[in-house]
Amino acid sequence: MPRLTLQHSIYTLDNQLLFPPGTFLTEETLDAIIDSHKAYSCKTYPLLLFGSVKEDCLNFLSTPPYETIFLEKKQINDLLNILETVHLSIPILESLDYFKKHDFYTYAHILMVFALSTLLAEDLITDCQERMQLSATGPTHDFGKICVPLYILKKTTPLTKTERGFIEHHATAGYVLLSYYYKDIQNLACEVALGHHERKDGSGYPRGILLKHHLVEIIAVSDIYDALIKPRPYRSTAYDNRAALEEITTMAEQNKIGWDVVKALIAHNRKSKIHYRETKISAEKRGTPPSYNVYGVIAEEEKTGSHD
Ligand SMILES: [Fe+2]
Ligand SMILES: [Fe+2]
Repeated sequence: MPRLTLQHSIYTLDNQLLFPPGTFLTEETLDAIIDSHKAYSCKTYPLLLFGSVKEDCLNFLSTPPYETIFLEKKQINDLLNILETVHLSIPILESLDYFKKHDFYTYAHILMVFALSTLLAEDLITDCQERMQLSATGPTHDFGKICVPLYILKKTTPLTKTERGFIEHHATAGYVLLSYYYKDIQNLACEVALGHHERKDGSGYPRGILLKHHLVEIIAVSDIYDALIKPRPYRSTAYDNRAALEEITTMAEQNKIGWDVVKALIAHNRKSKIHYRETKISAEKRGTPPSYNVYGVIAEEEKTGSHD
C-alpha cells in the first residue's frame, strides 16, 4: 500500500473527483472511496467483444515486428482463447473508447502490452491461474492516463518538471481508480498499474522502490518494448527492432529489469523460436536509435498560462 501525497487530482472518466491534489493516500482514505462505491454493481463485459478490440488486435499483431513475434497461427489462436476469458467492468472498458478516440497510440499500446505479456507469461509463469490473472492486467496498466491532460500525453517538445510529474501521476492514479472499480486494493491489476514503471534497481517511479514482483516485471518489459518500437510524440521515429532489443538488453545489464523476461522477448523475436533458456544474447550493440528523442529532457516551466 503506497503512502504518498497526491500531486494531482484523481477523477473518473465521468468526471467524478475521487481525490484532490494534496491528499495523503492511506489504506483508510482508499477504503473510504471503495466503501462509497460498494453499492454499485459493476457489470462486466468480454473485452474481445467490446467495440473493435478483436479486429484491432488482429490488425496490430499482423504489423512488424509483432508479425514475427506471433509468427505461428497457434500463438494467435492461443492468445484469442485467453482474450476471450477476460471480462472487464464497463467503466474500465470505456477507457478503451476514450483512448481510441483521443490518444490512439495509447489504445494500440495497451492492447499490444496485453498481447505480448500474455505470450511472455506462457514461457515464464507455470501457474495457469497466475497467467490468466496477469493477462487481465495488460489492458488496464495505463488506465491512470485518463487523469493526465491530453496535451501533455501528446506533447512533442520536452516536458516541464510539472508536466513530467503529471505523466508519472498516471501510475498512482491507475492504482487508485482500479482499486475503486475492483473494490479491492489487492487486485493484481492495481499492483501492475502502480508498479509497472518501477525498476529492479529502484530507479523507476512513482515510489522508486525495488521492482520485485515477477508478474509486474513482465508487464514492465512488454511496456518498454512496445513504447520503443512505436513512434511517440517525443520521438517521431520508432526504434528499429534491433535497437529496441539492444536498449532493453542494456537495461538488463544495468539490473533495471530481469534477464529471464528479456530472454523470452528476444527468443520470440527470432524466427527459429528457440526456447528462451537457450537464447544467447550478444553484448555487441549495432542498432541505431532514432536521432531525435526528447524523452527525459526537461524544459523550463512556462511563466504564463496554464492548460490544466
Ligand atoms: Fe505506464
Ligand atoms: Fe504503458
